[in-house]
Amino acid sequence: MKEKLKQMMLDAETKMLALGSLQEAEEMRVKLLGKKGELTEILRSMKDLAPEERKILGQAANEARNTIETALNEKMEFFRSKQKEMELAKETIDVTEPGVPSELGHKHLLNSVIDEITEIFRSMGFSVAEGPEVETVFNNFDALNADENHPARDMTDTFYITEDVLLRTQTSPVQVRTLKSSKPPIKVISPGRVFRCDTPDATHSPMFHQIEGLVVDEDITMADLKGVLDSVAKQMFGPETRTKFRPHHFPFTEPSAEMDVSCFKCGGKGCNVCKGSGWIEILGCGMVHPAVLKVGGVDTEKYTGFAFGLGAERIAMLKYGVDDIRLMYENDIRFVKQFR
Ligand code: DAH
Repeated sequence: MKEKLKQMMLDAETKMLALGSLQEAEEMRVKLLGKKGELTEILRSMKDLAPEERKILGQAANEARNTIETALNEKMEFFRSKQKEMELAKETIDVTEPGVPSELGHKHLLNSVIDEITEIFRSMGFSVAEGPEVETVFNNFDALNADENHPARDMTDTFYITEDVLLRTQTSPVQVRTLKSSKPPIKVISPGRVFRCDTPDATHSPMFHQIEGLVVDEDITMADLKGVLDSVAKQMFGPETRTKFRPHHFPFTEPSAEMDVSCFKCGGKGCNVCKGSGWIEILGCGMVHPAVLKVGGVDTEKYTGFAFGLGAERIAMLKYGVDDIRLMYENDIRFVKQFR
């Protein structure tokens, strides 16, 4: 039996050297140490030996078991780490490989135009004020001197929420809020959404954007209005741009005017953009009506002011040759991408 054990150990040593995989090592473990394994057989047959002999051989057999087990475990560990290495090699990341390009978004044309105009006014010392889109009838109409019978008050033009609350039809109510919440000198613009009960077509949308402006201080005159807006027009449409102020009517300004700019496409000769006239209407403006200043708590003996309002979509459409306002909101990527 001692011989058998010795032989088994020798065999095991040679086989161990020849092991080529984790699976072979596992098979060998079962063959030697498993329930029906060779060493188990030897241990089992020891029960017939004399106690003295059994003790010595038992010890030898247990030593053999430990030796084989340790050696096999080492082998298995080796195969496992080999396998891991191979897997890792397969998964290697090439950090020099060019990445999959992901498309970057960009500002919408309308936001670019609003930001550009805002930036021009900021550079001239204006700050930005904001007002709510859901506004009181009072701020949107009464405080702006629009009398009871003003056509814009009609249900067909205005989205009313209740009798006293509406979706603002213009950014002008921000004038009222600003006058009430701050003291002159005031120099603000207010870009934002406005709403009118219009059927959508190429030039109408029930929601669009305006940029409101308000300046109140001592000794503000029409000359300040013209100087500021002429400078803005030149920054917006180019230094050669000329401006022209035509008398107009707004309830909240007196006198009121509309400002035209010389056509930035033809320079004033007449073309399809200016419809042959050489001029393009850009905004409404005027000297703030004393009634509005009074509602805002401003001392009309001491202060005067001017205001203006322009449509952002209109400017964007004119400047970039967009012929349908609805394109601004449909977000067809083929349209949006043209204004990167
Ligand atoms: N709120 C006017 C509109 O929606 C635009 C406007 C005209 C605003 C003249 C003004 C202004 O502040 O002075 O048509």
